[in-house]
Amino acid sequence: MAVDIRETGDSLVIHCPADTCLIEEIQKSVCRKILSLKGPKDGYKDCLEDISVALDEILSNAMIHAYRGSKTAGAVDAEVKVRGNEVVFTVDDYGDARWIRDYHEPRFNTEEEKLRPDGRGIYIAKRFMDGLVMKANKKGGTRIVMKKKI
Ligand SMILES: Nc1ncnc2c1ncn2[C@@H]1O[C@H](COP(=O)(O)OP(=O)(O)OP(=O)(O)O)[C@@H](O)[C@H]1O
Ligand SMILES: [Mg+2]
Repeated sequence: MAVDIRETGDSLVIHCPADTCLIEEIQKSVCRKILSLKGPKDGYKDCLEDISVALDEILSNAMIHAYRGSKTAGAVDAEVKVRGNEVVFTVDDYGDARWIRDYHEPRFNTEEEKLRPDGRGIYIAKRFMDGLVMKANKKGGTRIVMKKKI
């Protein structure tokens, strides 16, 4: 199954199976949408890179972690909305959001903590965006809402 991307005036609505091969196509559509906006585009290069990195981290979490151990193929929904000079991203999966209670940011005090190869996706996404909130959606899955000023 492929990714379904619907475009309206100021938003993109994305529905796709939990398949990380589709992330690149989503990133490209989001960047195209932002580039199509009217207004000064001087700062766009950095902001598109930041958004692509954050989207990669959050989409891969939704596609990999939410459906770990699940026998049926999962789905991921995303929405990208432009509000003035801010883009708001909402990413929903239909796994189990209870992990959020136990989540804590990675620490970088010891050598072991510094050299850990994983556990940094949310930390990175937070730093590349101008706001990131994690919560449960109506189906008990995870909803991540991220904002970026453009
Ligand atoms: N959508 C999700 N559904 C279920 N669990 C999640 C979800 N997103 C994150 N998690 C949990 O939070 C942990 C931290 O996520 P984070 O992206 O920060 O690191 P990671 O995915 O483990 O490693 P990486 O640095 O490769 O991203 C994950 O290991 C997973 O247990
Ligand atoms: Mg991750």
